[in-house]
Amino acid sequence: MPHPVFIAPSILSADFAHLARECADVAAAGADLIHVDVMDGRFVPNLTIGAPVVARLSTATSLPLDCHLMVEEPDHLIDAFAAAGARSLSVHFEACRHLHRTIQRIRARGVAPGVAINPHTSFGAVEPILREVEFVLVMSVNPGFGGQAFIPAVLDKVRAIDAWRRDHRPDLVIEIDGGITTATIAAARAAGVDWFVAGSAVFGAADRAQAIAGLRAAAGA
Ligand code: DX5
Ligand code: ZN
Repeated sequence: MPHPVFIAPSILSADFAHLARECADVAAAGADLIHVDVMDGRFVPNLTIGAPVVARLSTATSLPLDCHLMVEEPDHLIDAFAAAGARSLSVHFEACRHLHRTIQRIRARGVAPGVAINPHTSFGAVEPILREVEFVLVMSVNPGFGGQAFIPAVLDKVRAIDAWRRDHRPDLVIEIDGGITTATIAAARAAGVDWFVAGSAVFGAADRAQAIAGLRAAAGA
């Protein structure tokens, strides 16, 4: 039984001067989640927003906030993001020395833990942690910026995770992030993806309801 398709607009491509309005707009347009890209200027060469902004946004939208921590040593931020109202929280495999402990800490705060993996990180590297997380976020671009081109080779890894979960954890969710458009989403869905982050394809569209409906339709949902 496949999981339903969720479309998660990334506010990285929203108008940062009007975030509450932008979230309300994509909620009305049919979004399932709001994806929040948190960047520290060290793990990735860009700097965005932190827990205080998430705390305010959580009062401004009823959509779940899916927070993607692209930061070195995320442990010191987990309590703040949990208190801010993050519904799901992903940390990067490449940024965690004690990933298992970090994942347990997220779960202990009542937030759904996820592991995010860069394009160069293999299925085998994350396999030992897959029993501990609620979702895997497969990066389909190198993290740091919106509007980059989708890297098709990551779909082999999605297929490997999908095959693994059939045998071990059918409830595990697969999320993909980067370069999702109506041209790339069908292949990602076929490979096993459930949650689709889309920044520029949604916030950059003149008609966001049409953009989200178009993504859903292209995914076969
Ligand atoms: C990239 C971020 C993505 C990004 C996706 O580092 O994690 O969430 O906003 O943007 P698009 O959909 O434009 O590739
Ligand atoms: Zn992201």
